Amino acid sequence: IIERKIDSLLALMTVEEKIGQTVLYTSIEDITGPTLDTNYTTYLKNGQIGAIFNATGSAFTRKLQKIAVEETRLGIPLIFGYDVIHGYKTIFPIPMGEASSWDLDLMEKSAQIAAKEAAAEGLHWTFAPMVDIARDPRWGRIAEGAGEDTYLGSLIAKARINGFQGKSLADKSTVLACAKHYAAYGAAQAGRDYHTVDMSINTLREVYLPPFKAAIEADVATFMTSFNELNGVPATGNSFLLKDILRDEWKFNGFVVTDYTSINEMVPHGFAENLQHAGELAMNAGVDMDMQGGVYKNHMKTSIDQKKIKMTRLDKAVRDILRLKFKLGLFDNPYKYCNEADEAKIILHKDHLELARDAARKSMVLLKNENYILPLNNSKKVALIGPLADDQFHIIGNWAAKGDRDGIAVSVKEGFEAQNKTFTYTKGCDIESDNRSDFENAIAIAKASDVVVMVMGESERMSGEAASRTHLKLPGIQQQLISEIKKTGTPIVLVLYNGRPLNLTYENETVDAIVEAWFPGTSGGHAVTDVLYGRYNPAGKLTVTFPRNVGQVPIFYNMKNTGRPEDAVGAHSRYVSKYIDVANSPLFPFGYGLSYTTFKYDKPVLSSTNLTKNSSISVNVKVTNTGQFEGEEVVQLYIRDRFGSVTRPVKELKGFQKIKLKKGESKQVEFKITAETLKFYNQSLLFTNEAGDYDLFVAGSSGSDFTNSFTFKN
Ligand code: IFM
Repeated sequence: IIERKIDSLLALMTVEEKIGQTVLYTSIEDITGPTLDTNYTTYLKNGQIGAIFNATGSAFTRKLQKIAVEETRLGIPLIFGYDVIHGYKTIFPIPMGEASSWDLDLMEKSAQIAAKEAAAEGLHWTFAPMVDIARDPRWGRIAEGAGEDTYLGSLIAKARINGFQGKSLADKSTVLACAKHYAAYGAAQAGRDYHTVDMSINTLREVYLPPFKAAIEADVATFMTSFNELNGVPATGNSFLLKDILRDEWKFNGFVVTDYTSINEMVPHGFAENLQHAGELAMNAGVDMDMQGGVYKNHMKTSIDQKKIKMTRLDKAVRDILRLKFKLGLFDNPYKYCNEADEAKIILHKDHLELARDAARKSMVLLKNENYILPLNNSKKVALIGPLADDQFHIIGNWAAKGDRDGIAVSVKEGFEAQNKTFTYTKGCDIESDNRSDFENAIAIAKASDVVVMVMGESERMSGEAASRTHLKLPGIQQQLISEIKKTGTPIVLVLYNGRPLNLTYENETVDAIVEAWFPGTSGGHAVTDVLYGRYNPAGKLTVTFPRNVGQVPIFYNMKNTGRPEDAVGAHSRYVSKYIDVANSPLFPFGYGLSYTTFKYDKPVLSSTNLTKNSSISVNVKVTNTGQFEGEEVVQLYIRDRFGSVTRPVKELKGFQKIKLKKGESKQVEFKITAETLKFYNQSLLFTNEAGDYDLFVAGSSGSDFTNSFTFKN
């Protein structure tokens, strides 16, 4: 029925009106990129715009929608989009932090709440989730994804899309999701944002594309192209990505939007001669909507007249856009999402804040806990120090939509106060300046206390878009403050806010405990307090590798082996693949994270050591809580394919389960391995499996050793 309605509408539309549907402009509320054409209201009245982003609130979106519906010839409603990345007003931990929970239900729920709050403010579309695999901590946008692993990243992509889109797009508490940035944006050379990507098709297919394919399996409504070029062809003009793979192979039937002015940027890329040419390359490759660039608006008509773009191609783009407007129910009621009463009831609902607190606790990763200094005992006198200890601004992180940066977010200091902890506070230093004037106070309160809690890290602007860094240490003089406090002899617990893996080599050698809290969001201060005092036993596991220093980058757990691995039997002491100044191993590997309790893993028991095409192997492992607290553990299965027609990674995550164990309790955890588990892209780019020998282990981190083997016969 919808297709017939679209047929009728298309039949009524002029070329200009069709082009209008492919045009997206920002209102001037929030700016997330360079060029700004402020005439969007004029274009809107002329029917030259099909969607608007960055306009929020029921009243404002209603006002703009009214223009589209009442003042344009055909009255086609607008779609309103926004970057709702980790919450709308209630802010959850940054996506990389939340991924460390390995809790798919939680991630689905937080996306659901983000959608509900955004939709209550008139929005129909979020530019999320970012599903880019990212393995370079220099890249600021690593904060927005799920980490370095494809298997985990694909599951998280689905969970987030299910959360945003719900069961039906017609449900007014859901929004359209957008899988971004297609493709390989996370692999920018040297971690510099917007930079070139050059990679083998095997790596592209095996590592970077699967989360996008997973997005399609979750029925994602839209895709966003990436800024980067891929093997010489900008993603926005890349018909291999947009046509061959996305439409022909994966059968995507939503619409594709650019990332901001990425059509225009094909000129400086050196791929398009001028803007008209860039528009033709984009449209003909498969880009349906032009965000902010004005290229489709200004040049498409000429391209159509000159037959450089076929009318059928434009019709197809418009059809894909209109279909979603119908599915959202906007033709029946264009103001469906604009309801001030709903807005007041839904935004910052106490259940949302409670989930944000739980998400923040579940995201935290305990990196070190010498002598079980944590959890803190209530009787301890605490010195609370650090530029982020009394902070309500940075705590919600970058890309925090409409999250308030004062008043609403709970700082750690407020979290301590709310739970009546005994503490004294001083800031100690800034995040970035070299002002040491508060050092003396910090030293004095540290001396007078039983334990020091230092809340330190990056500013929110140090991660996110256009926030690449070349060194990964704590900025400013924070390390110097740690070293001064260390001299007092009072034990130090370091709580970190950051949007990327940092180089924590110094901190790891110096302090007694480290809690990686990422940017924990609106309820972050409560969550940090819960974790420090043991009201919640941390269970987060890293989804990105923490290097020892920036020179090890790129470093990720599933690298290839080389012909001269350092740990080979009989390896030469020098002529092996290694550094002469630092170990090959990371400081903290993927999958790593401690708990206040300890877990013992028995050797896995395999149902068989022979796998065939039609059989499966079950892997059973007994996990026991051997420590003093109830706790959760992410039990992880890794497999290694010993050799293949193309070389295989040293290990690959193939399954995980998050379990909860009481003190002394044991549980059997079971994984299934089938022929499907072993597939990869071979030399002919066929996704297949090969006969051979495989090793495996089940553990609480990727840093463990293999325990079992099996053979696969095809
Ligand atoms: O959605 C974002 C994208 O991730 C980066 N450039 C700007 C877009 C719109 O704000």
